[in-house]
Amino acid sequence: MNFKNRDIISIKDFSKEEIEYILDYAKRMVPYANGEKHTTLLSQHIMAALFFEPSTRTRLSFEIAMHRLGGNVIGFADPSGTSQKKGESLADTIRMADSYSDAIVIRHPHEGAARLAAEFSEVPVLNAGDGAGQHPTQCLLDLFTILTEKKKIKGNKVALVGDLKYGRTVHSLAYALSLFKADLTFVSPETLKMPKEVINECKEFGVEPVSTSNLEKAVKEADVLYVTRIQKERFPDPEEYNRVVGSYKINIELLKEAKKDIIVMHPLPRVTEIDPEVDKTPHAIYFKQAFNGVPVRMALLNLILGGKL
Ligand code: CP
Repeated sequence: MNFKNRDIISIKDFSKEEIEYILDYAKRMVPYANGEKHTTLLSQHIMAALFFEPSTRTRLSFEIAMHRLGGNVIGFADPSGTSQKKGESLADTIRMADSYSDAIVIRHPHEGAARLAAEFSEVPVLNAGDGAGQHPTQCLLDLFTILTEKKKIKGNKVALVGDLKYGRTVHSLAYALSLFKADLTFVSPETLKMPKEVINECKEFGVEPVSTSNLEKAVKEADVLYVTRIQKERFPDPEEYNRVVGSYKINIELLKEAKKDIIVMHPLPRVTEIDPEVDKTPHAIYFKQAFNGVPVRMALLNLILGGKL
C-alpha cells in the first residue's frame, strides 16, 4: 500500500483496508512512541505545524511523533505572531510553509481550510482539525484505541455523547465506525443532534444509529462511551450555549449501571462532562487515548514521508 506524499484531509479519503493498514502500522510504532526503541527514520525531514486555533494534544503529539522519528519541526501555535496579522492570506502562508518543509500539519477554525491548503502545497498536508469539519488523525487514534482496548471494532456498541452538532471528532468517528460496522447510539440534547448528513452516511454502510437524549439507558447498553465537550467557541448564540452546558455529566454513580468492561473515551479537553472521580476507575481510557495520538501520527508521518520501518 502506498501512502507516499498523500494528503490526510478527511477520513472519508481512506478505504477500510487502508485504515486497517495504518492501525497495524501504528501498533508497530508503539515501542518507538514510548521511548523503548529509538529511530532516525525521518532525520532528513522537517514538519511544519501551523496552528491557527488552540491545541494541546494534537500539536504536541504531532511534534513528539516527528521528534521520535528523528525529524525536525517548525511552526507556530498562535497566528498572532505571524504575518497573518499584516493581512497575509492563508494561501501565501501555505506557499511559504511548503517551501520550508516536507509536510504541513494545519489546524484552522474554518471548515475546508485544510483542503484549500492542500491545493496550494506541493508537500503533503495533514488536517489537524478544520472548524466543525474533519479531524482525521483524531479519528484514527480513536479507532486505534477501541481496537487496542476491545480487540475489535465491529459489533461494539458505541455511544457518542454530548455536542454531536459542532463536535468535529464525532462526525469523522461516526463515519469510520459505520465503515467498521459498529452499533451506534447518538446521545445529545435536542439542539445538538448529529447532523442528518452524517446519519445518512452511516446508513449507507448499513448501520442504523439510534438517536436519543436518554443518557442512562445508553450507558447501560454501551461497550464504549465516547464523551465530548460542548463546543462553546462554535455557538453563534451564547444563549444557546447556556441552555445546554452541563446537560450531560459522566460520574461514578452513572457508571455503576454500566457493563463491567465499559470504556470511557473523550478526545479532550474536557470541561465538566466527566467527573474527575472517574479518572481512577479502570473505565477511564481518555489519557491513554491521547497518548495513542503519538504512534498513530508517527505511522502517518512515516508512511507519507516514505521512511522505511
Ligand atoms: N483532541 C484534540 O484535538 O485536542 P486538542 O484540541 O488539545 O488538540
